[in-house]
Amino acid sequence: MAMEIALDLVNTLKPVHSEGRKAALALSGGNTPRQFFSVLGNLYRDYEGWQNTLFFWSDERCVPPDSQESNYKTAKEVFFDKAAVPPGNIYRIMGENEPWQEAERYSSEILQNVTLRLGIPRFDIVCLGLGEDGHTASIFPGNLDLFDSSRICEVAVHPATGQKRITLTGTVINNAARVIFAVSGRNKAEIVAEILENPSSGMYPASLVRPLSGVLTWHLDLEAASLLTQFA
Ligand code: 6PG
Repeated sequence: MAMEIALDLVNTLKPVHSEGRKAALALSGGNTPRQFFSVLGNLYRDYEGWQNTLFFWSDERCVPPDSQESNYKTAKEVFFDKAAVPPGNIYRIMGENEPWQEAERYSSEILQNVTLRLGIPRFDIVCLGLGEDGHTASIFPGNLDLFDSSRICEVAVHPATGQKRITLTGTVINNAARVIFAVSGRNKAEIVAEILENPSSGMYPASLVRPLSGVLTWHLDLEAASLLTQFA
């Protein structure tokens, strides 16, 4: 799956680069991305397209960049430190800042660097993960107002830990040219089947991800896909 995702990302970036513009890519957080970050940092370490790719995040924990919980730290260690990614192309969410100020600052940074469609930033690719409760980015069940927010970024609170997070809103996610879910592990099989085969049921945040004029792709490993009945 990691190889598939890495190839999918690079194949999506290439046409953008051939248009002569920088691609805007929002990376997902959590543990699942480590696998495809590792492929990007090794197999694609010398890919020349990194020069014209701007890296953002779909969400970040409000922790310092050297925290074990930092999504930026994961990407830096597994991908950026190995590949030829210009540091100036990396736009991290500053988890060490006051959350609301950082949500505003990051929203401005996105507005300055990501092309707009209908006045809303349009990422070339937004990468997402999926929580067992159906959350994605840092939009958790019960906080669908964050998904529907007209803002670019919102401050979220993890329901179990109370940890503050900065997250892209659904307004931006659904404005992307491509949205790519990466989901692995048997522990995600139930929620994957629920979302993909019973989309009208419980309004999970991940169920609301439907790009208005973009392509939605789910990359699943066999375990995460093991309860699907309708897909080949
Ligand atoms: C985060 C993520 C979150 C994650 C899911 C899946 O910052 O934690 O954005 O949405 O993608 O919780 O996490 P795992 O990949 O660790 O299962």
